[in-house]
Amino acid sequence: MNTKIIKIDENNIDTSLIDEGANIIKSGGIVAFPTETVYGLGANGLDEEAVKNIYKAKGRPSDNPLILHISTIEQLYPLVDEIPDLAYTCMEKFWPGPLTIIFKKSEIIPNIITAGLDTVAIRMPDHPIASMLISKAKVPIAAPSANLSGKPSPTKGSHVVEDMMGKIEMIIDGGGTGVGLESTVLDLSTETPTILRPGGITLEDLRKVIHNVVQDRSITNKEEVPKSPGQKYRHYAPNAEMILYTGDVEKIIKKINSDAKYLMDEGKNVGIMATEETKDSYTVGKILVSGSREKSETIAHNLFDILRKFDEYNVDIILAEGIGFDNIGMAIMNRMVKAASGKVIKL
Ligand code: TXA
Ligand code: MG
Repeated sequence: MNTKIIKIDENNIDTSLIDEGANIIKSGGIVAFPTETVYGLGANGLDEEAVKNIYKAKGRPSDNPLILHISTIEQLYPLVDEIPDLAYTCMEKFWPGPLTIIFKKSEIIPNIITAGLDTVAIRMPDHPIASMLISKAKVPIAAPSANLSGKPSPTKGSHVVEDMMGKIEMIIDGGGTGVGLESTVLDLSTETPTILRPGGITLEDLRKVIHNVVQDRSITNKEEVPKSPGQKYRHYAPNAEMILYTGDVEKIIKKINSDAKYLMDEGKNVGIMATEETKDSYTVGKILVSGSREKSETIAHNLFDILRKFDEYNVDIILAEGIGFDNIGMAIMNRMVKAASGKVIKL
């Protein structure tokens, strides 16, 4: 397939280009587009055949359901069976934005979207290109992250080109995404409001409006089976092996330095994922800075790009500094633990 790549400046949108993308979606094709979290791989969410092709392009297991993206609250009503009061509160506070809400689904949702569940995930992205594409397509857009299944999610147009060239009709390159990690998935379809995937809206943010919100136990305990199908897969993974170091920063630096030297003596090409504050403490290996410990949003913003960069440098192993679990740190560490396939050294 010939993939058309178009560049759009989010501050000066050429609406005729968005029309072109919307027409592809209306006629059953796939368009990758930027959101404020990561790039999405979008198709008409009510067209079963089109949605099948999303799974095919990503190589995604069919038991992993998709999020429907909308641009107005009116679009929500036909998609869900009931809207709890709490959902109204959350939508008012966090939409448009990086919060996906799980509702009881209505009859019109194809089974392929929900992987047979009786609930549906819905989100209203906060990005001018995404909003305009949805409103011009006039349908809810089903969109998983626009990476090949298992790879880090795309946060730049070039990442999407890497993974999706020749597999979809169009890629809209709107530059870098903002948050850099996927949306928070919040289940409001059951009695206890539960975070199924930590993301751009933090537990601390949600607690301000939902006092009894909890996190699915699998987020902090890897022995538990996740409630969200997507959380059980290895994810966000670079080609290289990765080891994550958590705990006291001074101890982390010391241990990474000694492990790096040992691995290099063994002939390994070693990558080190450092932070602004610690980068000068490393003397060997390919050192990349994920961001600042003082401003963990910068780490969220850069993480997936850095993971892809290590692969470009062809490192054999990545030794990565972990950070604290507070605020956006919870989502960052969730992605890092998965990228490391659970290989975590606690110091
Ligand atoms: O930020 C985001 O959410 C991005 C952008 C493109 O919007 N999208 C995204 O989609 O991350 P995806 O497909 O990569 O991740 C969706 C997650 C998966 O873990 C999936 O299992 C979960 O949401 N999910 C979808 N529907 C669900 C449902 N009905 N119940 C529980 N989990 C669900
Ligand atoms: Mg994904």
